Amino acid sequence: MSQALSTQNVVAVIGAGAMGAGIAQVAAAAGHTVKLLDNRPGAAAQAITGIRAQFEKMAAKGKLTAEAALAAGARLQAVEQLADLADASLVVEAILENLQVKQTLFKDLEAVVSAGCMLASNTSSISITAIGAALQLPQRLAGLHFFNPAPLMALVEVVSGLATDPDVANTLFATAAAWGKTPVHAKSTPGFIVNRVARPYYAEALRVLQEGGADCATLDACCREAGGFRMGPFELMDMIGHDVNFAVTNSVWRAFFNDPRFLPSLIQQDLVDAGYLGKKTGRGFYDHSAGAVKPLSATVPAQVQPHDIVVYGTSNAAQALVARLKARNLSFTQAQASGDTVATAGSATLRVTDGRSATRCAFETKTPNTVLMDLALDYGAATRLAISVAAQCDRAAASSAIGLLQAAGFAVSQLQDIPGLIVMRTVAMLANEASDAVNQGVCDAAAVDTAMCLGVNYPLGPLAWARAIGIGTVSTVLTHLAQTYVEDRYRTSPLIQHQLFSAKVFS
Ligand code: NAI
Repeated sequence: MSQALSTQNVVAVIGAGAMGAGIAQVAAAAGHTVKLLDNRPGAAAQAITGIRAQFEKMAAKGKLTAEAALAAGARLQAVEQLADLADASLVVEAILENLQVKQTLFKDLEAVVSAGCMLASNTSSISITAIGAALQLPQRLAGLHFFNPAPLMALVEVVSGLATDPDVANTLFATAAAWGKTPVHAKSTPGFIVNRVARPYYAEALRVLQEGGADCATLDACCREAGGFRMGPFELMDMIGHDVNFAVTNSVWRAFFNDPRFLPSLIQQDLVDAGYLGKKTGRGFYDHSAGAVKPLSATVPAQVQPHDIVVYGTSNAAQALVARLKARNLSFTQAQASGDTVATAGSATLRVTDGRSATRCAFETKTPNTVLMDLALDYGAATRLAISVAAQCDRAAASSAIGLLQAAGFAVSQLQDIPGLIVMRTVAMLANEASDAVNQGVCDAAAVDTAMCLGVNYPLGPLAWARAIGIGTVSTVLTHLAQTYVEDRYRTSPLIQHQLFSAKVFS
């Protein structure tokens, strides 16, 4: 096991912007002398003033003693020249996101630092292999990808390029851990782990929106209230900024030689073209101007509660439905599992979506009155559920199915008959991408789940989620989506197929 860098060693951070300042704060708090350099005169000193104010705030909140805050602040030094970094044992670069500029900086740096000094880039999208190609000792370079804001976000991706010495990657891993972070190892491939595996969260929502599945507010509400995501995809894109989010999508798509998996959306292109960049410009999917009222999610009005409810089997959805109905003292009966039926109410049959549209499902199962429910992270706790209703389903049956879900305490959002609804298709595609990342050796299974939970706050890692709903379900959903769209985008990861056939769980 590699040792973390001793706190006796000097750490240098180049770039005193949002990320560099955050990284300098983390390293100083961990006990290192930190030299901060920026080519904008005065920027490093200004950043240090800001960091010291942060330390003072933490002391005021009791998170640090006053002495510790003062000492951490005193460990920060603004420097003006690369030559001032000669005694650094680790240099973390957080400058402009441009390959040539980063290569030039590292080349210049190699002339200054000792041969044993480790070099790290905080790049979120540039190949570490490509940056390293400009170096005399590319083996000393790795990615050290912090998330914004660096002092608060636990995840650090330690990224190895083709030439990176495993000892360097392991030392950086141990150092990030010593700094209180949760590091994961990743290979230098486009988007590393998080920026790659997160793509479907935006892409599937944009696809559903484009096909008129529902409006943004409704889809966001379903992702939050049923999916357990902290923010819905549209509000999240508005917060990130469409210029930034669209640029990441484009860069990952291009870097994968235009793989349709990562195809950008025309909807987002339009927002960028219009200058509707989200919160920062006051307009994105939502109106963020002062006094603007956030649109409500579409919720089906209360329907009559059906009196002939039967819940079938012991699936997650059925068990939760039973508990919810019992908790509300509603009368219903339970029956042995019957195919995929979760419940019947009146003449309606309720199933969880398997990636087919409700209309196709009704046709293929010869059950005209089919109503499909979306996936919920926890059917017991979800406050909202998306449904779709087959074209063949009669009104009274749809009303009974909705009345049952409402009686069980769900707000019901009826989407257009989109295959896989919103949470199910999103989770299946996240699991698919996570599986491909593991299958292609980008990282291991534990790392991908850790990265997605800590890097983007997912309520469950995509692979753990796939295990919870069953690899078979994920595979079926993807197969049905692929059948519907006939696009390579929905091809099932070989790892999912392997897991399915070998009946093993992801480890
Ligand atoms: P920023 O624009 O806030 O800060 C960049 C700083 O680098 C500026 O102060 C600029 O004056 C300085 N700089 C530019 N070229 C320089 C050079 N040649 N020598 C010295 N200083 C130079 O940018 P931000 O957001 O802090 O990003 C920095 C890096 O971190 C980029 O590579 C970015 O992709 C990456 N990153 C950004 C994240 C974010 O959410 N903002 C998240 C993770 C990584």
